[in-house]
Amino acid sequence: KAQPERQQPHTLDECRRCELWEHATQAVPGEGDRKARIMLVGEQPGDQEDLQGHPFVGPAGALLDSALAQAGVKRDSVYITNAVKHFKWEPRGKRRLHKTPAQKEILACRYWLEGELEQVAPQVVVALGSTALKAVLEDSYAALKDYMDAPMQHAGRWIIATYHPAYILRVPGAAEKARALAAMVEALRTAQALAE
Ligand code: URA
Repeated sequence: KAQPERQQPHTLDECRRCELWEHATQAVPGEGDRKARIMLVGEQPGDQEDLQGHPFVGPAGALLDSALAQAGVKRDSVYITNAVKHFKWEPRGKRRLHKTPAQKEILACRYWLEGELEQVAPQVVVALGSTALKAVLEDSYAALKDYMDAPMQHAGRWIIATYHPAYILRVPGAAEKARALAAMVEALRTAQALAE
């Protein structure tokens, strides 16, 4: 039976709150410790995440794993999710090229992020990049550079903003790469300290 377009979805995979599901393989839910003190929020699944159905399992995930290890934070002790749960992409030859989600897609997907925030109830949320920060703060104008240097309180929890791992992967220049990675490691250490 045909479903009314905007009916409340029961499961993430049935979600039709925006159009991104149409070209994605599957929705990628958050995962990890459901009682974690720290929640990491990324932007959206990438190519590998879309195929495998798990967050941060591609190249950006490998960089995140290395930052977590350097910070002494165990991946299975945190909860990892994305602001947007379906992969948004455009074809480029044989590849699927990541496209930044639109504000309306971030807003549509807040429904799921709110559910996760409510269920996991973390003390600290680490926003990985600008899309995550906008989603977490519910502020479409929030700019990463204005929030990078200090943790802030929002809606009763600590928010820490840092780079997206994909930025660190693609930024030109070894010095900038090292600086951005060190900043991410520091952000994860701060998260750990605030969560104790
Ligand atoms: N980038 C993200 O923001 N999230 C993922 O899960 C993978 C890559």
